[in-house]
Amino acid sequence: MILEKEIQHAALLLKKYNISSYNLDAEIILSNLMKVSREFLITNNNKEIKENVLKKYRLAIKRRIKNEPVAYITGRKEFWSKNFIVNKTTLIPRPETELLIYKLRKIFKNKSINFLDIGTGSGCILLALLKELNQSYGTGIDISPKAIQIAKINAKNLNLYKRSKFKVFDFNKYNLGKYDLVVSNPPYISSQDLKKLSKDIINFEPIAALDGGIDGLDQIKKVIYKSKYLLKTNGVLALEIGFNQYRRVSELLKYYRYREIGREYDYNYNVRCIISTKQGFF
Ligand SMILES: C[S@@+](CC[C@H](N)C(=O)[O-])C[C@H]1O[C@@H](n2cnc3c(N)ncnc32)[C@H](O)[C@@H]1O
Repeated sequence: MILEKEIQHAALLLKKYNISSYNLDAEIILSNLMKVSREFLITNNNKEIKENVLKKYRLAIKRRIKNEPVAYITGRKEFWSKNFIVNKTTLIPRPETELLIYKLRKIFKNKSINFLDIGTGSGCILLALLKELNQSYGTGIDISPKAIQIAKINAKNLNLYKRSKFKVFDFNKYNLGKYDLVVSNPPYISSQDLKKLSKDIINFEPIAALDGGIDGLDQIKKVIYKSKYLLKTNGVLALEIGFNQYRRVSELLKYYRYREIGREYDYNYNVRCIISTKQGFF
């Protein structure tokens, strides 16, 4: 089968099943299977696809028709311009999470810090930060043993295994060490909003990575509380939050005697990342 024809066929099929990014998905899935760039597909559109690749491609398109996210089909996702292995046990890294890296690399530039990433998932936050802060060390914890396995593979692939540690832990029970920084993208979707998520997300991504309880703040509250004991005085707590949670999280931080020192906004001008410091006397 000729490459261009097969992609057209796959894209039309995806369109028929209401996959809105049908062209892009058809190209990404094939380029990943052929281990070539999307540009290669465009400039070599008359090439024949090998029979074994064609079989795998058609199976992959069937998975996409059932709304499985492209990142789980290809097994990888780019974050902070690095390639991360992902699977159904890890949340797919999101662009808004890059706001945390953007902010923290400025705060800790040229410093040597020891930090903790709560709910590390694929390890994307921790590993992207270590790439930026090349004299620093990070520990990632997650309640999911399978996610921790993936984070360790990512650390190895990115050549960061010497400066990173990953452990299976419920953060509520974690008491090891004092850190310069605690960073977390905790589950923060409210029960109400969980019901409204697209099928791509709700049918495939781990519920433990999404569910923030009735008001979405259950885990955020616990991370704020727990971090008091895990941070050095004047240590930094950096949180990703939901698009409508700034006011309530800001109040929680004040209540627990943190001082807000920075925030980042997404393209819709919602605060998605809050940076605060632990003050002297709790
Ligand atoms: C929103 S995901 C974030 C994953 C990754 N840090 C990222 O930004 O893509 C939240 C993560 O917290 C983990 N998690 C949920 N409850 C936890 C707990 N009690 N202790 C440790 N990790 C937990 C989930 O397994 C999930 O990997």
